[in-house]
Amino acid sequence: MDILKQMILNKGRVVNEDILKVDSFLNHQVDYHLMKEIGSEFFNYFKKYNITKVFTIESSGIAPAIMTASEFKVPMVILKKQKPNTLDTNFYQTPVKSFTKQSMYNLTLSKDYISENDRILIIDDFLANGEAAKGAIKLIENAGACVAGIGIVIEKSFQPGREILDKAGYVVYSLARINSLKNNKIEFID
Ligand code: G4P
Repeated sequence: MDILKQMILNKGRVVNEDILKVDSFLNHQVDYHLMKEIGSEFFNYFKKYNITKVFTIESSGIAPAIMTASEFKVPMVILKKQKPNTLDTNFYQTPVKSFTKQSMYNLTLSKDYISENDRILIIDDFLANGEAAKGAIKLIENAGACVAGIGIVIEKSFQPGREILDKAGYVVYSLARINSLKNNKIEFID
């Protein structure tokens, strides 16, 4: 997606050879025009998959996910990293390890917002090691629903997440695929 790649080149900053900072348009300040374009790109790619809900993981996946849900005209569901106090016993939960942040959290989903008939599109901002995506998949499949596709804004293809999801047979569409961040240079896969 050219507009995204240009934004990454113009405004992204290589922190080190593993981490790209995109705070100015995706993770902290959010560019609404870019998010709208992202929503429409995911819609065009996944429109034949009969999506009934868009799921994301808080917090940085929410902006691209709501724009995608708006295109599909379906609800967007936020997988929580902590169980909200308002949630009683009616929930699914699975532990996720973040390698990037060296932390663990319990991905949590109320049983009220998923059913066996759902065909779910997972949207997230980054795909790195694939742990968040694997956690989301596990929750969805435990609930008997189907993961119809996975849409990623920025994939770091040099980390293992993409290969894990491909091997497991999921349909993954990433809008920008980064081959390398070495030598302070952002290199895309075409
Ligand atoms: P994984 O899900 O693919 O295994 O990735 P990992 O656990 O390693 O990533 C954990 C967090 O770090 C995620 O944010 C992810 O978006 C973020 N992250 C991973 N690589 C990068 C990167 O190169 N740049 C930036 N800016 N973030 C990266 P999170 O903990 O879910 O936080 P939030 O921002 O969504 O609240």
